[in-house]
Amino acid sequence: MKLFLDTANIDDIKKYAAWGLVDGVTTNPSLIAKEGVSLEKRIKEIAAVISGPVSSEVTSETAKEMVAEGKEYAKWAKNIYVKCPMTPAGLEATRALTDEGIRVNVTLVFSAAQALLAAKAGAAFVSPFIGRVDDMGQSGMQLIEEIVQVYTNYMFETEVLVASVRSPRQVTDTALLEADICTMPAAIYDKLVKHPLTDAGLEQFKTDWQKMKNK
Ligand code: E4P
Repeated sequence: MKLFLDTANIDDIKKYAAWGLVDGVTTNPSLIAKEGVSLEKRIKEIAAVISGPVSSEVTSETAKEMVAEGKEYAKWAKNIYVKCPMTPAGLEATRALTDEGIRVNVTLVFSAAQALLAAKAGAAFVSPFIGRVDDMGQSGMQLIEEIVQVYTNYMFETEVLVASVRSPRQVTDTALLEADICTMPAAIYDKLVKHPLTDAGLEQFKTDWQKMKNK
């Protein structure tokens, strides 16, 4: 399973890339706005650090405008994936961009039926937002299970990019369901590494080593 960072913060991206565990980056308009920099500047910075897919989201509403935005983004770096929303215009833009050889990540997906449409439109990635599904009192993981099954049934090549991840457990569940990619905020990377028994074990080793050296 590939691990992506879900952030537009360049310092975080550099930090976790140094661990060798960032296969790609996802951004969205809210994450870019939080950074207070231009989309073009930040996406170019990210694409210079990360060689894997970097998702940059369109902000217009018509298919024509989305296609124009997507074509512009694709010029910024070789590893750009254009994020289009799960709307009729977004699907039309997905087909048009895909036909031009530009890879598309269909975002804001909340049902397996939407994921089916995204795959049929030629999306390279589909992004179901599991945290937001859980917030509605439904099961984000059940949604992933359904999408993985539908894509397996019909051998779609679209990769399932699990998004809106809020806990380390969801990363494990994503891997158990054989989804292709999990994108997560920086804080989840930290939480995945940590375990109290690792810390306690390390402390014990240090103490015993020190005792031996003092003998
Ligand atoms: C994915 O591409 C999105 O940027 C992201 O996962 C949304 O997460 P949120 O629901 O925590 O905002």
